[in-house]
Amino acid sequence: MHVLHMNKGEGETSYAKNSQLQKKIISVGCSMTEAAIFNILLEVQPKSMGIADLGCSSGPNSLTAVSKIIHMVDAASQRMGLPVPELRVSLNDLPGNDFNDVFKSLAGLYKNIKNNYGIESCYVSGLPGSFYGRLFPTESLHFVHSSSSLHWLSQVPLGLQPNVGTHLNKDKVYISKSSSMSVIKAYQKQFHEDFSLFLKSRAKEMGSKGRMVLSFMGRRSPDPCADEACYQWELLARALMSLALDGFVEKEKIDSFNAPYYAPSPEEVKHEVENEGSFVMDGVDAFEIEWDDGDSSDLKLSSGNRVAKTIRAVVEPMLESHFRLGPEIMDELFRRYSNIIDDCFSETKFKYVNLVISFMRN
Ligand SMILES: C[S@@+](CC[C@H](N)C(=O)[O-])C[C@H]1O[C@@H](n2cnc3c(N)ncnc32)[C@H](O)[C@@H]1O
Repeated sequence: MHVLHMNKGEGETSYAKNSQLQKKIISVGCSMTEAAIFNILLEVQPKSMGIADLGCSSGPNSLTAVSKIIHMVDAASQRMGLPVPELRVSLNDLPGNDFNDVFKSLAGLYKNIKNNYGIESCYVSGLPGSFYGRLFPTESLHFVHSSSSLHWLSQVPLGLQPNVGTHLNKDKVYISKSSSMSVIKAYQKQFHEDFSLFLKSRAKEMGSKGRMVLSFMGRRSPDPCADEACYQWELLARALMSLALDGFVEKEKIDSFNAPYYAPSPEEVKHEVENEGSFVMDGVDAFEIEWDDGDSSDLKLSSGNRVAKTIRAVVEPMLESHFRLGPEIMDELFRRYSNIIDDCFSETKFKYVNLVISFMRN
């Protein structure tokens, strides 16, 4: 958790400049979010509404979800002829997140609210801490949102951590078709522990008929080794191995690295929800998202280059901390990654699968 943050600042490789894909994912989840908010207003009619965005990050996307949610609450209240509730909005991320950047952009949000909506009071706060555990007081929340964050595990699965003597997932950095059953089981166990703790924590924090809309990377296939769930990591491992072959990286470093990430299937999520028992899932969508959706402003770059930039903005701090590559080798790694992606793209255009799931508190 100490090394899990996106690339900071506003430079070429920053998350701020390379998060259009995640912005698109927020939009994809909007219809479920709208329905959830409508139902809260209809069924609970809160005077003061607790809203949280978990894993808000910093940069242009950090207020995108809450801006949309505030707009939805205002529009739905007007439509239903209800007074707009007071809003208590919490922006959560890990303590390493650049909350100062988030707070600086709040002035724009408040101005928008004042000029465009009939909302009398909206209090926005930042809340550093892990969503794998309690964050909020008991029954203080009505709506929880999270986008592009819950595929991150709380830690590298036990047995696959760098300091373990025998490396079980040699030459790979995530589950792959050649991974042994023990590697897959270790990832599944970590997902099970993390997701059930997430549900338990939110269950205490949300009142009855509270709702959550969560969107994160996942898969449609029951097979955790399906390309849609892990091919981006497969190609990253290939790029790292080519650096090792040329003596820029120690192979042992690759053998000992495993990403704290898991892309679950809807069935795996459902299983955890039923086991935990506090929520029902009332909507599930699995969207395909092109690795390179061609929307980027960098149209002069190759597809591989655009995909590599999106991934780099997210994984570089983690790679930096483990591999301790200098800036030139890091550039070289992503040059090779981008070439490998371009080669693969000449045969297949790869897609991620993003799950958007709506939950209701019993
Ligand atoms: C890819 S960013 C997504 C940011 C934003 N929601 C968006 O859609 O662009 C993922 C964010 O999740 C945060 N995150 C990961 N694990 C977390 C945890 N356990 N608790 C809180 N935040 C976490 C990361 O720090 C990062 O800022």
